[in-house]
Amino acid sequence: MRTQVVIIGGGPSGLLLSQLLHRKGIDTVVLERKTRDYVLGRIRAGILEVGFVDLMREAGVGARLDRESHIHDGTVIAYEDQEFRIDFKEMTGSHVVVYGQTEVTRDLYDARAAMDGKVVFNAEGVTIHEADGDAPYVTYEKDGSTHRIDCEFIAGCDGFHGVSRQTIPLDVRREYEKLYPFGWLGVLSETPPVHDELIYSGSERGFALCSMRNENLSRYYVQCSLSDTPEDWSDDAFWTELKRRIPGKYAEALVTGASIEKSIAPLRSFVTEPMRWGRLFLCGDAAHIVPPTGAKGLNTAASDVHYLYNGLVQHYHDGDSHGIDTYSEKALARIWKAERFSWTTTNLLHRFPDQSEFDLKMQLADVNFLRDNVNAQKVFAENYIGLPY
Ligand code: PHB
Repeated sequence: MRTQVVIIGGGPSGLLLSQLLHRKGIDTVVLERKTRDYVLGRIRAGILEVGFVDLMREAGVGARLDRESHIHDGTVIAYEDQEFRIDFKEMTGSHVVVYGQTEVTRDLYDARAAMDGKVVFNAEGVTIHEADGDAPYVTYEKDGSTHRIDCEFIAGCDGFHGVSRQTIPLDVRREYEKLYPFGWLGVLSETPPVHDELIYSGSERGFALCSMRNENLSRYYVQCSLSDTPEDWSDDAFWTELKRRIPGKYAEALVTGASIEKSIAPLRSFVTEPMRWGRLFLCGDAAHIVPPTGAKGLNTAASDVHYLYNGLVQHYHDGDSHGIDTYSEKALARIWKAERFSWTTTNLLHRFPDQSEFDLKMQLADVNFLRDNVNAQKVFAENYIGLPY
């Protein structure tokens, strides 16, 4: 088989890139290790920057998103029993959009199928060959035989554990990592959200987040220990803990119910440099991870897709390689700022095992500064709604 761009990974970034390129007449094949149902079964974040929404529209997949998503003009920050609101609209003139990653992925799969896009599921043992030469190719196993796809470029959209990053030799690749000494326990429940905006709450017992997907689907999180497992947490234990970490008025209003999904994710900051090696380009989680506190995971993947898509179109349509040659540099410049925001927001609201009394006073002063200072709120809002591409 031959194509122009092999895309490794059928999550949102791989599918979005494939969809965008197809509409510009650039041929792609997407290789996904799992099945469509497996990918759609993963519950991920739900806050989209406007830049991401614009990219979905450009890809021709904005219709359901525009119909069913919800605009959020602000968010609540709580600390112990006090709370304040950051008004994105007033601070930046813009907003974020609530629409689940699962729905984004579903829309992209439907669009790929409608355009006869090539997506290979159950592609195992994907291997990248000669990415640093002029004739790269990718091999994979499926149904007991080995397949080969010759191509011009490879987009590594295969996540943190994928093969793409590992393909870049260690003498070229540099990795930066910070592990946090806690995780997030997340619960999805078919209950109305406790509030019409998200609540990011710092408390003596640790961080909690009240989020949502729609009028009758809520997503809640509590900071938990890294050694916890979802089985350690009954629904009752979860709701009790959540209520203790949010201001009383929300705890009282909270509608609880059976969880329909419960999972734990460790928190990590991670960046690999460079994001390009020869004809291989890394996108999204394959190159970087943020802790979820700033809602930047999917949105940083989208900015990579934006830069790579524009670079490839410039290459194929205008014969100009400037865009792909500056891809790594441009993507990383934005990524590091999202890393900074996610790290700052995590530090602002979580309890750390080794925090001293002094550290706690500093954290409280940070929160109070944000509450009282319009410039600090503006900085927060600019980062939250998404820095320009
Ligand atoms: C979510 O709704 O899953 C969500 C929202 C905001 C975050 C993280 C996760 O910062």
